[in-house]
Amino acid sequence: MKNKTTFNSKAAELFDEIKDKREKFYAHPDNSEKYFDQILTFLQRTIKLNVQCYRDSYVRRRVEAIMSRLSLETYKQFQQWLYSPLFDKNVFIKGLTINVTEFFRDIGPFRYLEMKILPELLDTKLRQGEETLRIWSAGCATGEEPYSLAIILDWILQRKNLKARIAAKIIATDLDPIPINVGIKGCYSLQQLKNISQESLRRNFDHLFGDKYAIKPHLKEYVDFQQHDILSGQKNGVYDIIICRNVLIYVNKDDQITILKLFWESLNVPGYLILGKTESFPLFYNELFRYDNLNEHIYIKMP
Ligand SMILES: C[S@@+](CC[C@H](N)C(=O)[O-])C[C@H]1O[C@@H](n2cnc3c(N)ncnc32)[C@H](O)[C@@H]1O
Repeated sequence: MKNKTTFNSKAAELFDEIKDKREKFYAHPDNSEKYFDQILTFLQRTIKLNVQCYRDSYVRRRVEAIMSRLSLETYKQFQQWLYSPLFDKNVFIKGLTINVTEFFRDIGPFRYLEMKILPELLDTKLRQGEETLRIWSAGCATGEEPYSLAIILDWILQRKNLKARIAAKIIATDLDPIPINVGIKGCYSLQQLKNISQESLRRNFDHLFGDKYAIKPHLKEYVDFQQHDILSGQKNGVYDIIICRNVLIYVNKDDQITILKLFWESLNVPGYLILGKTESFPLFYNELFRYDNLNEHIYIKMP
């Protein structure tokens, strides 16, 4: 009981300290809205990054995280960094994005893909005499999501004896080139592979050295990595399944609609859209998609 009280009062002290620091930060004239708006304008104009499409609190937190990493104390100093030879577009993009991901993250949709969506889609393809299956992993970060899809897809194609008949591709895209390069290499540590069983590790990865493993070449072949901004509204192909998880949460409601329209236009019929655990549609967008699986946030395209 005593420990709990001590912990609570320590936490309250820390909270007050942070609040105090933030108030002082925003009261400083070099952190006025004028400077923050100028930062946004620069980024929009110079690096053509649609920062205004992201939630204001999100961009603010990310800008402040970059400032802290660069030891810059005010928005004014940050703005001076933007106009100096030290400015690096990739440092900014890296700081804006959060690339956290893992193999088979929130496993539910992967199970549903394996048990229902992929077998049904493949049956439809066979009935219609089609030979391609295309999946888009939008906001793929360091590649764990598209490679998880490749593992399932390869397993099903093998089980159904369809590897020679169906040409399957997973297009993995992200705004940020740095995690994409990690995905292209396809090498992960045991910590990053914590959701993979021993049996799956043996079947799907080659041991390199120490705790490093590489995704097997036949799985790597399914995945093409590309840099692409889903806020650009630009189509990059036509797909049977689009998986875009834990990306929309950072985007304004209005711009989420632009993205959902892009996904609708990029899907075949039948076509599935898989969103993240905490992501859903604005209600009035029911005419574009309907729920296929409410629990797993999986939608099917309305023709
Ligand atoms: C939190 S990670 C999610 C990774 C993976 N989808 C998952 O759920 O595990 C979000 C990713 O979205 C990417 N992202 C953010 N804005 C984007 C945009 N406009 N276009 C494409 N990718 C974007 C980030 O670079 C980051 O890699």
